[in-house]
Amino acid sequence: MDVVVHANLTEAATAVADRVVDLMAQTEGRFSIGLAGGSTPAALYEILSQETADWSQVDLWLSDARWVAHDDHRSNGRMARETLVDHIDATFHRPRWSEGITPDESAAEYEKMLRSLHVNRQPDLILLGLGHDGHTASLFPGSTALAERHRWYVANEIPATGEPRLTATYPLLWSADHLLVLATGAGKAEAVRDSFDGISPAGHIDEGDSEVEWHIDQAAASLLS
Ligand code: 6PG
Repeated sequence: MDVVVHANLTEAATAVADRVVDLMAQTEGRFSIGLAGGSTPAALYEILSQETADWSQVDLWLSDARWVAHDDHRSNGRMARETLVDHIDATFHRPRWSEGITPDESAAEYEKMLRSLHVNRQPDLILLGLGHDGHTASLFPGSTALAERHRWYVANEIPATGEPRLTATYPLLWSADHLLVLATGAGKAEAVRDSFDGISPAGHIDEGDSEVEWHIDQAAASLLS
């Protein structure tokens, strides 16, 4: 596992964007990227949207999704569209949302898509964020999805609120060639420390075969010994 400490979010996001472009350039044929949600990645996606790359070979999908309408301001898919997808010619695969289907049905449908997208190949790269409580994707402390060892994508709930989410599971994360975590700000310092001590959901992403890189800023690194 590699850890790179940057001065601030802009430098961290720029470094991650460079890594994404490098990894894409090293790969023949199609390249698949799981996109992190939340607010931090917006800076990364805006930089990526300006990069010169052959996006036509790239499949983008969501490492987790909030169970809201696609145009809802909380939607991870909407954030990805506004900051990246609408500016490049990659193929974007979103989980279906409607009032007529359940999170379980949508997650099962999305998993089928992901498995068909990755026949005889692994996901090349999954981008991840880090929550203040040490969650990553929508793998929250105490949530049922933490125990999933077969499915790639499931519905999950935030235990504290019951809010429904869809999320990649550990088996999917662990199957990726590369995992890149971008976490910045003093508010993430405890979660970073706990993750490196293996006592948060994000602390278990390095238990598969993936190359794991953490890109954090000095504020998020401030509690590391
Ligand atoms: C989400 C994300 C989640 C996110 C962290 C960090 O839907 O919120 O997928 O895992 O990466 O919560 O979010 P911020 O970048 O907004 O702090």
